[in-house]
Amino acid sequence: MSKAITLSKLGSGIAVITIDLPDSKMNLLSGSVMTELNEALDTIERDGSKGVIIVSGKEGNFGAGANVEEIQALQSQPAIKIYEAAKDGKRLFARLEKLNSIAAINGTCLGGFTELALGCKYRIATSDPKTEIGVPEVLLGFLPGWGGTVRLPLLIGGQAAFKMISTGKAESGYKAWRLGLVDEIVAKHELVERAAEILSGSRPKRYQPRFKEGLVRKLTAVGLEGNSFGRSLFRKMASQAVYAATKGKYPAPVEALKVVMLALTGDREKAFEAESQAFAKLATSQVSKNLVSIFFGQSVSKKMEGVAPNIDVKTIGVLGAGVMGAGIAQAAAYKGYTVVLKDIDQGALDKGMETIRGLFQALVDRKKLSQTEMDVIMSAVKPTLDYADLADCDLVIEAVVEKMNVKKMVRAECEKAISKPFIFATNTSSLSVGGMTEELRKGEELVAPASRHPEMTVGIHFFNPVHKMQLVEVVRGSTTSDETLAAAKAFVAKLGKFPVLTNDAPGFVVNRILTPYMREAMVLAEAGVPIPDIEKAALNFGMLMGPFTLLDEVGLDIAGHVIETLHGAFGDRLSPPPILSVVKEKKLLGRKGGKGIYLYDEKNDRRFVMEGGRFSKKKKRYLLNPEITDAIKAPVNRKTEGEIQDRLFLAMVAEAALAVQENVIEDPAQLDFAMIYGTGFPPFIGGPLAYADAMGTSLAYQKLLYLSKVHGDNYKPCDLLKKKGATGEPFRK
Ligand SMILES: NC(=O)c1ccc[n+]([C@@H]2O[C@H](COP(=O)([O-])OP(=O)(O)OC[C@H]3O[C@@H](n4cnc5c(N)ncnc54)[C@H](O)[C@@H]3O)[C@@H](O)[C@H]2O)c1
Repeated sequence: MSKAITLSKLGSGIAVITIDLPDSKMNLLSGSVMTELNEALDTIERDGSKGVIIVSGKEGNFGAGANVEEIQALQSQPAIKIYEAAKDGKRLFARLEKLNSIAAINGTCLGGFTELALGCKYRIATSDPKTEIGVPEVLLGFLPGWGGTVRLPLLIGGQAAFKMISTGKAESGYKAWRLGLVDEIVAKHELVERAAEILSGSRPKRYQPRFKEGLVRKLTAVGLEGNSFGRSLFRKMASQAVYAATKGKYPAPVEALKVVMLALTGDREKAFEAESQAFAKLATSQVSKNLVSIFFGQSVSKKMEGVAPNIDVKTIGVLGAGVMGAGIAQAAAYKGYTVVLKDIDQGALDKGMETIRGLFQALVDRKKLSQTEMDVIMSAVKPTLDYADLADCDLVIEAVVEKMNVKKMVRAECEKAISKPFIFATNTSSLSVGGMTEELRKGEELVAPASRHPEMTVGIHFFNPVHKMQLVEVVRGSTTSDETLAAAKAFVAKLGKFPVLTNDAPGFVVNRILTPYMREAMVLAEAGVPIPDIEKAALNFGMLMGPFTLLDEVGLDIAGHVIETLHGAFGDRLSPPPILSVVKEKKLLGRKGGKGIYLYDEKNDRRFVMEGGRFSKKKKRYLLNPEITDAIKAPVNRKTEGEIQDRLFLAMVAEAALAVQENVIEDPAQLDFAMIYGTGFPPFIGGPLAYADAMGTSLAYQKLLYLSKVHGDNYKPCDLLKKKGATGEPFRK
């Protein structure tokens, strides 16, 4: 096997370890790289080098962290194996600590590599914008286990360290310097030279806090972390912040805080031991297994093995400048595509362009983009009312009104305007992708011919709001070729989103599985279960928002339309609940219309319930729309939280199992992945199928059988679930 590490020596007698993992864009700290590092240190210790510089041979990447595949393999082993792996890493970095060592960081430095750098005597980083340093382990459900949870607070203080550890957010090189995490910021070209000077005795140019900032730091260090009262206050504040962020569902930040506190009391060895134990406990937990699986789901979604895209997409056409079209155009322009935005209405086009400009302006305001960059990007978006302007497009995405005839018409118009082969993609939520390739007739008259390139028609289903939602369903229509799917996936991946492949079935995956859940929430409310109880049960389950809040966010018109479509496709088990006729009659739209299930103020924020003559924000009781509550005739019928959760989430499980049985999606793990990124399903649970697995498929089957007898066919377990229930076999591998 080719080596990842080269050892060289400068004229000054200082050794240089260059890490450059072969056949990989980034460095990973796998077991074999650790062994090589140990061997390099053996040589350095033997030959009496004056010091050691650690650099990366990769452009823009110091190291991405431990090899997560190896961690995943260890997760199914006894916890002692992971504990030992934590100890091995600590032993290695302790060797660095004893040497005159420096980490010379250019590019991304994450996880295990940050811990490696923390083990060194010094750290310097380049001013390159790609340089960032972080410890994202909590996002995988564990903590930095190679000494980072101990060394970081000792270096930069408990508060700053815990913020980095508990959020997993990486800091730029400059910010890391200000925090004291790196000793000096240097230009890229002088990285090794300056590292050698520092090892030879030159003092690093450490950040000097300005007077006020320095005072705050000192007061924090002495007042908050330097005595036991201050530390217990810090612990209390940090625990509250963690609870607010995780609702107690993610144990990693809690365990990390315990280790940080131990480190701050000065007992380093005890803290190292606690870190290893916590790492072993967390990394073998189901929560961590679920989060690691989501991490791999991201790359699985982007893969299209053995198939090359049929088109190198450069210019995009977007039809319809409404909610979705404007969002799609903005996302594509942001990633460097030339975009032609076409509508039939000048007013709609102007409004769409205004939305796009607003989204970019927000990025400028947040300093994610300069004004000049924004101007350049905006000049690449061409608004038009004329199909002829689409002539250069390689990919056209239609986001016009949800009507098959209109979709067929615009497809045919594009085929007239674009003479070269191009991909026609539809953003439809519910219509058949394959159906759009067919001709359109009005009586005898041919209105739109069948598609010239049916193999180049595909579904690319974005979620609203496009700039926030990372999931995109790429839909294989009855005629779509693999090469078109590969091109669609590559395009979506380039937008920085996750393209999950589904087959062409009503509601695809996400809307299909979400609808029974939303519908059941309405059925429960109609049966007298208080709406706040239903919302709370969903939130306590771990959902990002309750089902009624979500209904208002999505738009009651859109949710109603999806339910009607699925009702048409799957029959009465998904019939629209009576509340929806009230919604229609009163023209309630949800947040965008100022009223839906809840009432909204002029800023589109939810109104609060009045208490003692004032709106009480403290208790966060939102004002329900009386038009909805008055329409519920059933007397109050309280249910336990467990009962409500079973009703909501087992409805999802039943539909998810059916979607797998009907091959709407091939990989159950990708179904779970889609539900997490598409609906806010709690990541720590791992998705509806992982939820069924955790409960046991036998129990899930029994519960559904019971619910279907009492509450109807929407709970009826499908044959696949029945089969799994008989043996207890899980859905997920
Ligand atoms: N809104 C959502 O949450 C959402 C989510 C996913 C998918 N979708 C789908 O995206 C599509 C668009 O939805 P939307 O919410 O953006 O609708 P919208 O009503 O906001 O926008 C539709 C736009 O299409 C324009 N239009 C109509 N006919 C046209 C034509 N022949 N050529 C060009 N433009 C035309 C209209 O003027 C309007 O500006 C629909 O198929 C919808 O099902 C919507």
